[in-house]
Amino acid sequence: MDLDGKVAVVTGGASGIGRAIATALAIRGATIAIADVDQSLAMETSQALEAEDYVTGIFMCDVSDKAQVERLFNGVVTTYGHVDILVNNAGKGHNSKVIDLTEQEWDAVLAVNLKGAFLCSQAAAKKMMEQGKGGRIINITSTAGENARVNSAAYSASKAGLIQFTRTLAMELGADGITVNAVGPGLTLHESPIWTPPSKAYQKAFIEQTPIGRTGTPQDVAQAVTFLASDEAAYITGQTIFVDGGYSSGKFSVRD
Ligand SMILES: NC(=O)c1ccc[n+]([C@@H]2O[C@H](COP(=O)([O-])OP(=O)(O)OC[C@H]3O[C@@H](n4cnc5c(N)ncnc54)[C@H](O)[C@@H]3O)[C@@H](O)[C@H]2O)c1
Repeated sequence: MDLDGKVAVVTGGASGIGRAIATALAIRGATIAIADVDQSLAMETSQALEAEDYVTGIFMCDVSDKAQVERLFNGVVTTYGHVDILVNNAGKGHNSKVIDLTEQEWDAVLAVNLKGAFLCSQAAAKKMMEQGKGGRIINITSTAGENARVNSAAYSASKAGLIQFTRTLAMELGADGITVNAVGPGLTLHESPIWTPPSKAYQKAFIEQTPIGRTGTPQDVAQAVTFLASDEAAYITGQTIFVDGGYSSGKFSVRD
């Protein structure tokens, strides 16, 4: 899984799972463009990577804003010469029942999770097609894209939409050698200061319903993304890999 010479854009790469993805791709040799709205976390991540001699740049970008997304990809190509890998990782959740969900909350979640992935994929695909050397687009969805969950209607709808967007885009870009896949984490705990972990009761329920018997780590997710970004995954497209310890495989499991 050698990514030497490749340029990867990781949206939401400043923290949490995105930071682990940026790190894993950098370890395999890719140059990393961190695209995020949080400047201080982006600086922290970039400095940590540069301390290990990896090449990174920060591109401030709200993925739901078309002008900012175009500036991002023009900036990446101007700075590094090309773009080979896009990871649509930037995401936003909410915790409210449909009956209480505001129109603003619905729009904000869909704008980042679904429209953001569309805008970034479109801009990246145009560059990749011009370059004529194929490419990789990897969308970070969620088990919530397949399994309904209370208090998460907008989030679940956005992630289900992202799975179908992945399949459609894979069909449209296959002839250009651009693969499009999704990775769906289960509950993945991390230390990001802007992310609130779910309650202990929620964590316990997830573990009990997960065959592997633990929550995920950001590195679990990052390894799947790294594989899909590599030349070794050239014949895989339109797929969603759930990195969830088997949670999405069934409704009920007895482990003894
Ligand atoms: N943590 C989990 O348990 C879990 C489970 C399933 C899926 N996911 C998905 O993984 C991805 C990363 O989640 P995380 O847990 O690391 O969350 P996080 O909140 O720690 O990270 C999200 C990152 O996205 C950035 N971001 C938010 N809005 C943005 C925007 N408009 N433009 C650009 N960047 C923006 C944030 O600044 C942050 O750096 C998300 O897509 C999330 O839905 C997470």
